[in-house]
Formats: sequence, structure tokens, C-alpha cells
Amino acid sequence: MCGIVGYIGPRDATPIILNGLKRLEYRGYDSAGLAVLQDGVIEVRRNAGKLARLVSLVEQSPVSGQVGIGHTRWATHGEPSTRNAHPHVGETGEVVVVHNGIVENFLELRDELSAEGVNFSSETDTEVIVQLLDRYLGAGCNLVEAAGNTLAVLKGAHGIVMFSSREPDKIVAARIGNAGGVVIGKGEGEMFVASDIPAILEHTRQMIFLESGQMAVVMRETVDVQELNGTRVDYEVHTVSWDPVSAEKGEYRHFMEKEIHEQVRSLTDTIAGRVDFDKMSIRLGQLNLTPELAKRVQKMVIIACGTAANAGGVGKVLIERIARLPVEVDIASEFRYRDPIVDEQTVVLAISQSGETADTLAAMAEARQKGAVLWSIVNAIGSQAMRIADGYISMQTGPEIGVASTKAYTAPLVDLYMLAVHLADMREILNDKSRRQLIADLRLIPDLVGRCLDREGQVKDVAYALKDVAHCLYLGRGINMPTAYEGALKLKEISYIHAEGYPAGEMKHGPIALIDEDMPVVVIAPRDPWYEKMLSQVEQAKARGGIVIAVATDGDDRIANIADHVLWVPETPWLLGPVTTIIPLQLLAYHIAALRGLDVDQPRNLAKSVTVE
Ligand code: F6R
Repeated sequence: MCGIVGYIGPRDATPIILNGLKRLEYRGYDSAGLAVLQDGVIEVRRNAGKLARLVSLVEQSPVSGQVGIGHTRWATHGEPSTRNAHPHVGETGEVVVVHNGIVENFLELRDELSAEGVNFSSETDTEVIVQLLDRYLGAGCNLVEAAGNTLAVLKGAHGIVMFSSREPDKIVAARIGNAGGVVIGKGEGEMFVASDIPAILEHTRQMIFLESGQMAVVMRETVDVQELNGTRVDYEVHTVSWDPVSAEKGEYRHFMEKEIHEQVRSLTDTIAGRVDFDKMSIRLGQLNLTPELAKRVQKMVIIACGTAANAGGVGKVLIERIARLPVEVDIASEFRYRDPIVDEQTVVLAISQSGETADTLAAMAEARQKGAVLWSIVNAIGSQAMRIADGYISMQTGPEIGVASTKAYTAPLVDLYMLAVHLADMREILNDKSRRQLIADLRLIPDLVGRCLDREGQVKDVAYALKDVAHCLYLGRGINMPTAYEGALKLKEISYIHAEGYPAGEMKHGPIALIDEDMPVVVIAPRDPWYEKMLSQVEQAKARGGIVIAVATDGDDRIANIADHVLWVPETPWLLGPVTTIIPLQLLAYHIAALRGLDVDQPRNLAKSVTVE
């Protein structure tokens, strides 16, 4: 999805912007550009395609200045082409804009402006923003007034950053709704603006996050934040603790590979500070969970998209089993349009790595409106999903760069487990022995995940055997049913192999017809309460000629005797089983995609943070 970087200060803005855009490449984009104020004139360089093309263009036709903005675009209105790439300059050339989001009423606005004689030079919705700004500047407004007037007529959700050659001392940035974040980085005598923290993290850790409906006037020494109606806002400056080095690839070929291997560390961090192994208790302070709320709540609804929703599926089993609270899992884009039945007795829990997914944020807004208690599990500190919730758990994984989510899948599994135990404790339904056992099991997790990663060699062999298949079926049951969905999602999104996750018990009701010698079937069958059922699934698939790849617990000879390939996992307490069973499946998807020579970190048509509906 689109990325934004801006700079104002004593240094040359061009390399700062190019470098910032590079750090946002992981979000996915199809064109890139920048605008810099050089000798009082706005100079734009932009190109369809990858950032490297923009870098060459800037080398051929250099540009430098002390204020500038840049953008990576993921096309929504108009093809990915140079003329549709951002930044966009108005007819007078005096104002320039980059934009994330969609102007929903752009056709009306475009017709209105065209009728006034404005000539459009792109097919984008964004261009109406800059032409409107031009109109207001021409009518005598200053940049802030022009921005306020323009924002007032735009429909939809937006992150917008602009500057004008008339007022070279400032950048104006605004956020309306949930089209991704707008963050301002405070430096010494210089300021940075971005859609995402990694773009500017190498320069500063002091960050101001704009809320929806706020506009910031960013100058070298000061930042003023106001509501769109002009009311001044007292903002907080957050210190972000992410390590910039952890946003780099290090020794790995791809970010995804690195992030799979980071899970020992991310899960250690997830548990650290939350679990007191001396007292055998769990602290989730930012959740603001009181015993009164824990006893009053009648049900939980988990809302999320994609991988986060799969994590929610595991959460359902955990919270129902451990805390005895009914849980529904709802795809966020479905929840909001269904007039869902939630009220003050319901906790709605959003799970989101980015904390900026438009569907999830819209579902949260719906839940808020219906009076539910709103919680979130998020990775991106300061994201909207964190800020608008009544309480939150932060994932502690550090930035996830690869588009396919891995460490931001396992961290919420452990968060949900801790939440289940904490909730059960507050509901006074856990006896001391069970609580101690559940908490003690957590301590095993980093080591068990490390042991799964140590077996990467075995997974590579299986990847080699499967790399040319056209389809693949993933079966799981109970707590590992979401593992089947997640394993299939990983494979399809990065290898482009058609893969389906299915509840194993449903096979006989239709999909079994698909199984033949060309259909590999990945069966998730660790020793858990559904083991015997899964074993018979393996037999059924074999009886129909299918190639069976089983995820099984070390030493399981019964599976070893029937499956064609086994991905071994160490014995894991079953409620934490999905944390280990997913590791070989992440590795399998990764190695198949790498063997197919694909762009693992930036798969086609996908974006890291989906900030449009
Ligand atoms: C798949 C993947 C996506 C995201 C989904 C939600 O690997 O990454 O399915 O999980 O787009 O994103 P967040 O968690 O940022 O809300």
C-alpha cells in the first residue's frame, strides 16, 4: 500500500526521502516519486515501477533542496504509470501533494473543477486534492487555510502531506479516517513526516502520531497540531523503541526468512514482562481488565483479517477452553456490514499487525458505536487500532517487513493464551494447580520453536519435492484447524500455488473428491485431543492415492508408517500446539516460493498494510 516520506530541515531532502521510501518498499507499490523545493521551484521526479528506477532518474536529473516529500504508490484510480505516480502538482506549480487513501467523491470534484477550466494531467483521484488547493491558494488563502477548505470537501479516508513554494518554511500533513497513519518525527532543527515509523526511524525516535481529523503544520523547529476546524491540539511525543537494525535483512536472503527465524526472540519478548514465573501470574496492564469486567462480560467477538483472523481462530479455542467465555471469530470486512449483535456485555477484540487495516478499523468503529468494550492486539505501536481501543496488548515482535506475516502470527497466539489465562483467573474459574501448569507451559515455548527451526533441512527436502505442484490441500481439526488455514494462506500468497485450508472433518462432505495422486494433502496431526481423528484422515487420503505430508509429533511411528513425508515438531502442550505446528508450514511455503524464484517479500498484488476497503 502507498508510503509517504517528507523532510524539512538544513540537510538535502532528496537522499533522506529516497532512503525512507526504500524502507517502505515492503508495503508494496507500483510507482514512486518525490518533489523537492529547489531554488524556489517545486521539482518533481517520478516513475512507474520500482524505486531503483526513481533513483536512476534522480541520478540523471539531480534535484536538491531542504524541503521535500516522496511517495510509493499502489494504484487504485488510474493505471500504474508515470503520470499517475505521486507527487502531484497543481496547475500553477505552486503546491504539491502526496496522498494515501481514496477520494470517494473524486468524480464529482473533478467535474466541478473541469467546469471551472482546470486541466487534469492524471487519472488519479489525488489530483483533485492538489487542484482544489491551487484554487484556494489562488483565492488568497494561505496553505493551512487552503488545506482546511480542501479537506472539508473530500469524502473518504486520507493521509495527505503537502508543501507550497509560496510558504517554503512548512510541510502540512493531515489524517482523516483510516487510510494508514501519519507520523511526524522530531529531530534537532529538522522534522520528518511519514506514513510508517520505519521510514524515518534512522533519524529519530521521537514521534507524534496524528489522529483522524487532525492536521499538523511541520516547521524546522516546531510542530503545531490542530483539528480541521482550527482548534489547537496538545499532542504527546512518543519515544519509539524499535531498533533500526532489526528492520534490515541481515544475513538472510529475504525478510520473511529472517522473520521466521526471529520467532524464538519475538516469543521470548512476548512472554517477558507479562509472566511472573515466581508468582505464577500474568500481567496485561494495558488491557485495563478489571475483575468486574471479567465477570460481567458475556461473550467475546474477535475481529481481524487474513493471518490475524487465523490467529483469532486459535484464540477462540483458547478462551473458550481456559476462560469458559463464548467467542465468535468474525472477518472484519463481514462484521461491520452485518449489524452484528454486540453490546456493553461484549468484548470486541481486534487483532492487527499493522493496526491500520481499514476493514479492521471500520469494524472497531462499528463495535464502539454499539457500546462494546474494545480491545486490540497490535504490533505497530501508536497505530490507530491501539489508540482507539479501551485496552490493548502489544505484540513485541518488532517491525515485520515481509508481506507474508509470520512472527506477527505466533506472537498473538501466545498473547491470546496469556489473555485466556488472565481472564480465567479474574473470573475465578482456575484452580491454583491448573493456573500454575498453564503458566509453566509458556516457559517452554521459545525453546520448542527453536527446535522446530533447527529442522529446516527436512522442510527444504519436502519443499523440493513439492515445488512444482499446482494445488495443495491443508487439513486440520480443533485447535489446529486455523493452522491449516494459515499454512494454506502462506503457501498461496507467496508461491502462487492454489492452496486450501479445510476443517478435516468436512472432507467427507465434498472435498475428498479432489484427492488423487496429483493432490498433495498437508495433514496437521500432532498428539493432541484430535489426534486419532487426524490419523484416520491420513489413512483416507492415502487410500485415494493422495501424497500426504504430515505435521506430527516426534517419535510418532504410526504417522511415519503411512505418510509420504513428515514434518516433525517436538512434543508441545496441546493448547500451545499451534505455535509449533505452524513453524514447518511457514518454512515450507518460504522454501517453495524461494525455489520457484519468486519475490518472496513482495508477492504480486499484495501490500503489507491494506488501508483501503
Ligand atoms: C498474510 C497477511 C495478511 C494480513 C492481513 C491483516 O500473510 O499478512 O493476511 O494478516 O492483511 O493485516 P493486519 O494484521 O495488519 O491487520
